Amino acid sequence: MLEHKILINEETLNKRIEELANEISKDYNGEDIVLICTLKGAVYFTIDLSKKITGSDVILDFVRVSSYGVNNRETTGKLDFKLDISEDIENKNVIIIEDIIDSGITLNYLRDYLKTKNPKSLKICVLLDKKERRQKEIDLDYVGFEIENKFVLGYGLDYDEKYRNLPYIGYVEE
Ligand code: IMP
Ligand code: MG
Repeated sequence: MLEHKILINEETLNKRIEELANEISKDYNGEDIVLICTLKGAVYFTIDLSKKITGSDVILDFVRVSSYGVNNRETTGKLDFKLDISEDIENKNVIIIEDIIDSGITLNYLRDYLKTKNPKSLKICVLLDKKERRQKEIDLDYVGFEIENKFVLGYGLDYDEKYRNLPYIGYVEE
C-alpha cells in the first residue's frame, strides 16, 4: 500500500456530490440527461452522482480516453481513444463526468469531439480541479472541489491502476 494521507473523507465527498446532484436536477428541470462517464477514473463519481439526480431521466454512457502513460504522472499531450460512446447524443442534453482536471488536455479533446455529434447541450462536471496546472483553458459547469497540486488517489483515481477502490480521496506526499 502506497503511503498516503486523507485529503477528502467519505462524508465530505457524499455531501458535496449530493449538492452537485441537486444543482444538476434543478438546472435540467425534468429534461432527460445523458451522463458520459470517462473511464476508468470517473466511475465511482458518476454512479454516486447519478443516483442522487432527481426529476430527470438519466442515460449512462462511457468513454475511455487516456493521456497518461503507465505509472507516469505527467500528461504527454498525446491522447489515446480506447472506447467511444454507444448512445446517439444528437439533440440530447449531455454532461461529461470527469474525476479530475489537470492540464485540461483530456477534457478539451473530449468536448470538441462530442460537439461534433451535435448534442442539444454539452456541459462538464468534474469532481476535482487542479486549477494551477491548467494548460488549456476550459469552462467547467460543475466542480466538486478545487485542490492543490498534489497527486491524489482513491474514489476512482489510480496510481499505477491501483487504489481506485479507496472510499476517500487521498494524497501522496512527495
Ligand atoms: P489532463 O488531461 O491533464 O487534464 O488529465 C486528466 C486525467 O489525468 C484525469 O482524468 C486522470 O486520469 C489523470 N490525473 C491527473 N491528475 C491525477 C492525480 O493526481 N491522480 C490520478 N490521476 C490523475
Ligand atoms: Mg479520468
